[in-house]
Amino acid sequence: MEVIVLDDAQAVAQKGAGLIAGLLNSKPAAVLGLATGRTPLAMYHRLVELYKERRVSFADATTFNLDEYLGIDAHNPQSYRSYMDREFFHHINIKLANTHLPACAERENPRHVGPRYEAMIRDAGGVDLQVLGIGQNGHIGFNEPGSSLGSRTRVKTLAERTLKDNSQAFEKGEFQPKLAITMGIATICDARKILILATGKHKSQAVAATVEGPVTAWCPASILQMHESVALLVDQEAASQLKNRDYYALACRENEALHQRFGQFLEDV
Ligand code: GLP
Repeated sequence: MEVIVLDDAQAVAQKGAGLIAGLLNSKPAAVLGLATGRTPLAMYHRLVELYKERRVSFADATTFNLDEYLGIDAHNPQSYRSYMDREFFHHINIKLANTHLPACAERENPRHVGPRYEAMIRDAGGVDLQVLGIGQNGHIGFNEPGSSLGSRTRVKTLAERTLKDNSQAFEKGEFQPKLAITMGIATICDARKILILATGKHKSQAVAATVEGPVTAWCPASILQMHESVALLVDQEAASQLKNRDYYALACRENEALHQRFGQFLEDV
């Protein structure tokens, strides 16, 4: 795992957007795995700017989001479909037909959604780059602590901690779903490259457990230690509980020299 500690959340957004734009510039028909939540918002907004500056095009890209709530429809402003349209898709030149979320249609059996989503990802050629945030409890997507490390897209019950963390997005009295359909941990690990973002002090414990703790289902993000190509972009606050911080900074400096000569994880724009 390449741990890249940046000054602040803005730098994380900038770097993340640059890496995604770089991928699209070298592979215009790339398949992106996307995440929701507060963390990647600034990165999406930066990508919109890059698009407007004509430094990236999404015309041939395909996207698969990690997860979607169960029990609210796509038009509900709280759905992840609404989030993606509002914050990102409606401001770039992506074909909406090429954007996918694991949504369950009305009256559809939610257990049928996962296998169908897995087949769609496979048919698209697999995910080239998966963007992830991380929950304060170490979840990725909605794979809560205890999720099978071999799990595939399926229905998950949200943990109390997640419901509390995400409740800020809901008005008082507004219906907050307790179930979601999420890519599984094995689905996420199938991606060729993974870009995980974490910002703020409240993520520091989960980041430390992800990078320096044991690989365990109790911290689902820790499975990323087993993946061959992961870049973790963190700000100073999210990095604050990492014990091996000096080493990551040293490795970044050394890698920078190598990147300049031989290319990097992904080419920045
Ligand atoms: C949510 C999402 C995750 C997200 C995480 C962190 O519940 N399912 O995909 O990465 O929790 O969210 P935030 O970035 O708002 O802290």
